Amino acid sequence: MTDELEKLVMAVSQSAKYRHLSLDLMRRIGARELAARRTHKEAVKSTKNKLHQVGGAYFAARIDYDEALARLQQTRDDPVAFRQTCRDLLALHASTRERLPILDSFYRDILADLPPIQSVIDVACGLNPLAWPWMPLADDASYHAYDIYGDMTAFLQDFFKLLGVNGRAQTRDVIGRLPVETADIAFILKTLPCLEQVDKTAAARLLDNLDARYLLISYPARSLGGRRKGMVANYTAHFAKLADGRNWRVRRFEFETELAFLVEIGD
Ligand SMILES: C[S@@+](CC[C@H](N)C(=O)[O-])C[C@H]1O[C@@H](n2cnc3c(N)ncnc32)[C@H](O)[C@@H]1O
Repeated sequence: MTDELEKLVMAVSQSAKYRHLSLDLMRRIGARELAARRTHKEAVKSTKNKLHQVGGAYFAARIDYDEALARLQQTRDDPVAFRQTCRDLLALHASTRERLPILDSFYRDILADLPPIQSVIDVACGLNPLAWPWMPLADDASYHAYDIYGDMTAFLQDFFKLLGVNGRAQTRDVIGRLPVETADIAFILKTLPCLEQVDKTAAARLLDNLDARYLLISYPARSLGGRRKGMVANYTAHFAKLADGRNWRVRRFEFETELAFLVEIGD
């Protein structure tokens, strides 16, 4: 790493907002911004802007993960209260908050006709693993989740432990280090546009390399600000372009807040 890049990474990781963020992603974005900007200060600023776009913008406030875990522990033995705790926590990340109105049907409807799911990869998961109680998976299913925030993945690991789930949450920039696990299904929920904001080739590369029989790929049906702005049509076209030339069988599901495609990979 050059001195310049090291200095930039130090500066960005000192801000409370990015203290726990994957250093790999910081370096990837930082190196490009250093090459494109005139001054170090500008490069630090534009690196933070990009990190905000792809990660920071989803948090309205910093999450107290100790308190979140304590609430999960307190309600663990009461299924109704536990689900409510999960819902409350899912609301702390804008992307999973958008799924709350459709949470009761989202996984149930999409996964209804699949053979029992024994293993899941959740790419750029956010807080989505907390939707575990709504996922119709085999009882002993394994779950591999990845995101760029170390404090969040540590919390998700504690969540798996609390539930006795055979799960592993890893801090990982999936642009640079693709998941290597094999799974029945990969959840790629509202993630592809986000990865493409950093690297235009990232989505196609991810899809080419994931080792899963089924892919669940989704897109937001409205912007973070709530406007629809023709997003369904745009993302339908985005998906069609990715699917073109691939041996995929596809089913489309349109929900109020999310457009989803269930893909079965052909032999
Ligand atoms: C739109 S949110 C989707 C969250 C989640 N998949 C869901 O079900 O709603 C995008 C997520 O991608 C994560 N992310 C962004 N860039 C990433 C990268 N390079 N590697 C891994 N995760 C990334 C962000 O932290 C954020 O949680």
